[in-house]
Amino acid sequence: DDAYLITHALAKDTLSRLRDVETTQVAFRKGLVKLGRICGYEIIDGAMETEYVTIQTPLAETTGEHVKGLDNVVIINVLRAATPFVEGLLKAFPRAKQGVISAGRDEEAGMDDDGGFPITIDYVKLPEITEKDTVIVADPMLATGSTMCSVLDHILENAGVDPEKLFVLSAVSAPDGLLRVDSEFPEVDLLTVSIDDYLDDDGYIVPGLGDAGDRAFR
Ligand code: PRP
Repeated sequence: DDAYLITHALAKDTLSRLRDVETTQVAFRKGLVKLGRICGYEIIDGAMETEYVTIQTPLAETTGEHVKGLDNVVIINVLRAATPFVEGLLKAFPRAKQGVISAGRDEEAGMDDDGGFPITIDYVKLPEITEKDTVIVADPMLATGSTMCSVLDHILENAGVDPEKLFVLSAVSAPDGLLRVDSEFPEVDLLTVSIDDYLDDDGYIVPGLGDAGDRAFR
């Protein structure tokens, strides 16, 4: 129901390197992994609770803290640009269950009158989602929001129950996409490292970082 900016200095640093047109494919992919890890830590810091535990050190018994809920995390990888991003997230949530959805914009069809794209969904494989779960849907780019809205439809239909928390995590977002996801899925918390200026006529985020899928994979 809200949009939150991830403001960690390393997130901004890493995103700025990803934006740079000179960044090579290898560096781009590594940058997305790094950004995913930082975002994962920020989600834990901002949205998850800790509980007190008793710890025996080699010298004494003391009180420590453990993050609660790390066994109830589901990460959804929106193919293909999210793959390196998710690899980073998994460093923060090593025991997460994972789902995969292949969703892509039909670029040839072009943007329709209401500013969205037709979306083709080719493959969906999701783990069971329970009321206890924190679900993080990861896609480095949220442009018109067409992809994310289709993806969320599939996830929620498949799940049958509402998860405890539902996050959409992107690196760069356009205002249009944030507004669309928020109005269609008010229960979602939107997390992004940057809200960029606008979408161009082809539906690209400006200034953005280009086509994340192409830059990471081609
Ligand atoms: C890009 C991006 C998002 C989508 C965002 O994927 O990774 O999934 O576009 O656009 P939207 O908000 O307007 O729907 P693309 O369709 O290029 O597929 P790819 O990840 O396989 O490159």
